[in-house]
Order: sequence, then C-alpha cells, then structure tokens
Amino acid sequence: MTRVPTLLRLDSSYDDDATSVSRLLTDAFTRAWLAGGPDRAVVEHDLRTDPVPPPGHGALHWAPALRGPAVVVPGGAIAAQARVLDELLTADALVIGAPLYNYGLPATLKAWLDQVHVPGTTAPFGDGGAQPLRGRPAVVVATRGTAHYGDSEAEGRDHALPVLRLILGEALGMAVRVVTVDRTLSVTTPAFAGERERFERRFTAATTELEELAATL
Ligand SMILES: Cc1cc2nc3c(=O)[nH]c(=O)nc-3n(C[C@H](O)[C@H](O)[C@H](O)COP(=O)(O)O)c2cc1C
Repeated sequence: MTRVPTLLRLDSSYDDDATSVSRLLTDAFTRAWLAGGPDRAVVEHDLRTDPVPPPGHGALHWAPALRGPAVVVPGGAIAAQARVLDELLTADALVIGAPLYNYGLPATLKAWLDQVHVPGTTAPFGDGGAQPLRGRPAVVVATRGTAHYGDSEAEGRDHALPVLRLILGEALGMAVRVVTVDRTLSVTTPAFAGERERFERRFTAATTELEELAATL
C-alpha cells in the first residue's frame, strides 16, 4: 500500500472549537496543507477529548537499552507510549495548537511531550540514538491571552515556547516554526475588550502566515 503524506494535527487547548483561537488556526493550517497536494491525509488528535497519559513509569523517558536492569515497566504503559510515538513518527509534518497557560504548557501537551522525548529513541544520547524526526516540519501555533511581543520570550513570562523549541527543535531535530497570536482575551473577557482591534489584525496576519507556510510544506 502506498503511503500518502500525512499531517499530524495536535490540539491542546482546554477550550472547544467555539472559543479556542489556536483551534481556528490549526484548522486553517490543516485546510491549506490538504489543498497543497492531491493525496494527503490528516490525523487529528485532540488532547482535550483524547488525552495522552503521562508516562506510566519514569524509565519510559529512556530507550529500552538505556534503562537499568532492575526496572520493570508495566506493559500497558509501554503500549500507551508506543501509540503516541507511532503517531508522531509516521507523520510527515506536525502542527500543534499551544495556548499559554499559567506561563507554561497546557498539562495535556506537557504529557504528550513527556511521552515523545525519549533519548536513545527520538533523541540522541551519547553514541546511541539518532534523530528519526530530523528536519521534519513542526509548526507551533502559540496563543496567549495577553501581550507577549511577537514570538520573543523577551518578557521572560512565556515558559512554554522555550520548552517546545528545546524538545522539538534541539532534542528531536525537527524544523520548528512558531506563529504567535496575543491578546486573545480581548474576545472573551470584557476587561481586555480595548485590545480587540490589535488582536483582530494579528489574527488575520497569522492566518495568512500559516496558510502560506502550509503551502510550502
Ligand atoms: C488555565 C489558564 C491559564 C492561563 N494563563 C495565561 C497566562 O499565563 N498568560 C496569558 O497570556 N494568558 C493566559 N491564559 C489565556 C490563554 O492563553 C488564552 O485564553 C488562549 O487564547 C487560550 O488558547 P486558545 O484560544 O487557543 O484556546 C490562560 C488561560 C487559562 C484557561
């Protein structure tokens, strides 16, 4: 059977489609990516409705050959991690909706990252372990309720993007692109309504940016 290029779309917002900005943007990216070729497939994994559990044992952070001999990892936990890894390793491109929650990653996305960063399997460790995902595109759609100045972490208050860059980019070797949208609370929270126009402008620009990016992958 011929494999068709596959996009893994991962959403991690706690909101549903009606209110989540990152979901609107991962959707726009996905539609543009699908339009880029005749035979393309998308795997949609919504971590809100279908959460990935954190690793069922700390040893799962390491490839089997790197684990201590006394470690006994429950079979169910191994199988759960294998499913998550397989979904990522068989994707040709990845788009992640990544809201900023309490200055960090959504718990749903953190659990997913803890499952896929495995030195010796997905990341190098000593002499062992290549980067099977090296060069594969990973598009991060970062949404933030207030203003964080473009994609910089200048204010030191966004502790999500640095982690995503370290794990996906440095450890896994993926080609990470980040598109940010700030001031999303202007839509839902009256106290921030004065920021709505600036949010709308950025949202429109980010949609175009993502559609153009999808067309190049
Ligand atoms: C639990 C929680 C914590 C949040 N913490 C922050 C925060 O630290 N900084 C910020 O700018 N916005 C914060 N927000 C606002 C979200 O980042 C914002 O609503 C974002 O748009 C959510 O993503 P979504 O629209 O893609 O669903 C928080 C929202 C929630 C629900």
